[in-house]
Amino acid sequence: MITLFENYNQMSEYVASIVAEEITNNPNLRLGLPTGSTPIGMYKNLIQFDLDWSNVKTYNLDEYEGIGENHPQSYHTFMNKNLFLHVNLKKEFIHFPDKNLDTHLKQVGGLDLLILGIGHNGHIAFNEPGSSPTSATRRVKLTKETIIANSRFFGSEDEVPKWAFTMGLKTIRESKRIILIANGQDKWDIVNNCFNGDVTKDRPASVLQMHPNIEVFYAPQ
Ligand code: F6R
Repeated sequence: MITLFENYNQMSEYVASIVAEEITNNPNLRLGLPTGSTPIGMYKNLIQFDLDWSNVKTYNLDEYEGIGENHPQSYHTFMNKNLFLHVNLKKEFIHFPDKNLDTHLKQVGGLDLLILGIGHNGHIAFNEPGSSPTSATRRVKLTKETIIANSRFFGSEDEVPKWAFTMGLKTIRESKRIILIANGQDKWDIVNNCFNGDVTKDRPASVLQMHPNIEVFYAPQ
């Protein structure tokens, strides 16, 4: 299930080429997208393709609460910088999770492709250890561990938002195709445990083992 890449650039190029191919094959693609450091290379490659994004619908996995969309560390800002400002995606087709997301996705037929990153504790989106595999899209309190990890982007731990909205594990698992990407030696243990170990709530990504169409890409450096 885990595909190993020689390095981060090769993995990023390959994932971007898959997304580009999906958009070419289905101009109305409903595409789920992550933020974080891991997908930056994918976005860099993806914006080089000459693609028509005008009918693509994007669905981000999560967003902080309590900081405005224009805050430098908001996920809206991240997405504008890395993808949205570079392609002809329509503003009204950009989605971030809120209480209406699951109903909306049900009406339109779910996500066609979802790209995921993974945290060191096995979190996906802001589904922290202990999250129910059937959890809906919801408001969540961030764990101390995540606040400390994310404080590198803010001035201090105090400035990191304490709450966020996240796509739920059920919502994630209903995507037709999932690609989880991870890089760095420090991520190997969690990737290996999630996809070669037991399925457990303690490692939220492990529930994806049961997904019929999941690919896991890992690059050690
Ligand atoms: C962000 C998200 C998070 C990250 C995870 C890994 O939208 O869903 O779960 O994927 O925290 O982050 P990086 O890539 O920075 O190691």
